[in-house]
Amino acid sequence: MSLKRFGVSLEDNLLNDLDEIVERKQFPNRSQAIRFLISQSKVEEKWEDDVEVAGAIVIVYDHHKKDLQTKSTDIQHDYHENILSVQHVHLDHNNCLETIAVKGKSSKLRNLSDRLIALKGIKHGKLVMSACG
Ligand code: NI
Repeated sequence: MSLKRFGVSLEDNLLNDLDEIVERKQFPNRSQAIRFLISQSKVEEKWEDDVEVAGAIVIVYDHHKKDLQTKSTDIQHDYHENILSVQHVHLDHNNCLETIAVKGKSSKLRNLSDRLIALKGIKHGKLVMSACG
């Protein structure tokens, strides 16, 4: 892929914002930050257009919480067509970390993720989606 150069005119505050992003995310330079921002914006558009995306839902929970695992499994079975794999890690005596790889319409993946994260006993949960294709 050939690289094209172009000039960008930015107000001081926007340039400061860009440099903050470069620093915070530890990009090697501004070009890399702009590449990241463009691809992120494209992924977000795809979410809005409700097209096929792939991603992962990460949840952390206390497996002693009553009915939590049963409810989580029930929900996951409702979305069996969207779930590619589930990895369960026993973090310590109480806590489990589950990484659920998912694929499908962004709206459906969001519903699945919202239902799981809303379960009583879930300590942390996040859905990450990326464009597939
Ligand atoms: Ni566990």
